[in-house]
Amino acid sequence: MKNKKTIEDVDVAGKRVLVRVDFNVPLYEGIVMDDTRIREALPTLRYLIEHKARVIIASHLGRPAGGMFESQFSMMPAAMRLIQLLGQPVTLLGGPIAGEQALSASLALKDGEVMMLENLRFNKGEKRNDLAFVRKLAALCDIYVDDAFGASHRAHASIAGVPQFVPSVGGFLLAKEVNTLNKMLEDPKRPFTAILGGSKVSDKIGIIDNLIEIADTVIIGGAMCFTFLAAQGHSVGTSKMEEDMVETAKGMLERAKAKGVRLMIPTDVVCADMFAEGARTLVCGVDAIPSDMMGLDIGPETTAAYAEVIEASATVLWNGPMGVFEFPSFEAGTKGVAQAVAACSGETVIGGGDSVAAIKKFGLADQVSFISTGGGASMQLLEGKELPGVAALDDKEV
Ligand code: 3PG
Repeated sequence: MKNKKTIEDVDVAGKRVLVRVDFNVPLYEGIVMDDTRIREALPTLRYLIEHKARVIIASHLGRPAGGMFESQFSMMPAAMRLIQLLGQPVTLLGGPIAGEQALSASLALKDGEVMMLENLRFNKGEKRNDLAFVRKLAALCDIYVDDAFGASHRAHASIAGVPQFVPSVGGFLLAKEVNTLNKMLEDPKRPFTAILGGSKVSDKIGIIDNLIEIADTVIIGGAMCFTFLAAQGHSVGTSKMEEDMVETAKGMLERAKAKGVRLMIPTDVVCADMFAEGARTLVCGVDAIPSDMMGLDIGPETTAAYAEVIEASATVLWNGPMGVFEFPSFEAGTKGVAQAVAACSGETVIGGGDSVAAIKKFGLADQVSFISTGGGASMQLLEGKELPGVAALDDKEV
């Protein structure tokens, strides 16, 4: 974000400011179950209010069909939580998103007042980046602020479209996320260890490829380790494995070796006779996985080896769990890695998604340096790609 304008580069007093946030938060019976994304947007919202902006908040929530209001995807629970956190009224507008009513409400806002639009995805134009919808959103504001890091990989109307028509700058959360992740990729303190888990190599190719170029050690866990084990000639029983990715995994192992990067894969695993919490389990070496069993976690020897490397690192990036940590029988690997990340005295970064859920489950979230609010967005950044939401913002004058 070094070359992009942020809210501190513009005068927001008396201006209608459309703030795109990512309030795509988990709900249960109309209650926000995790308000991290709302809390993380507060610095930007408070700054705008204190600087007398007229604030219009916009977000998506979930994946509604589009074209109509669907109550389970309403922004109401997020608006209620925001009111509590901000300690001031926020008017949630009904009716068509960015319609006549929204326009007159935006024009009636006074300095420091806040209103919120309903779920942007109730309008089909949002995901399509439809020009007519973009123009309507742009008409609501004098300045656009993108603070929706978690959605900044989506080239949607409110992310990539609106900035084409109004002065557009980044909010504090967007800047913090992009700067932290980019700094880690561009100038990490060494040794730099990247821990990559998750179920599919095909989902993580971009990240693994990019991190082999940057990290000193790449640690592989999660079901995707079985594709790597297969690439090394091991039989993996009934473990989840991508046959068509075995050659790709082989290539990654070879490239890492050629570059002098240590690519660590498990030496032992926890196997089960079925995918269930109550399954019969067996800890075995990777050369002894029974043909009728599946690996659901990394084993204790692997966890200890990974932990040793992690704790001795100056920079750690963690993206993706080591096993099926949702089941207590298969949580030990992920827990051991989470504990090692928490114990590491270097810069520790959790790159979104399931690893955030894991570190929270084990009560260690306050012991890491940085937890990204973005899943797909942080993945895209870690792949070394530019985010459409960042690309769309105004450049700083030089
Ligand atoms: C997320 O939760 O990752 C973001 O809010 C993006 O949501 P989406 O994957 O539905 O676009």
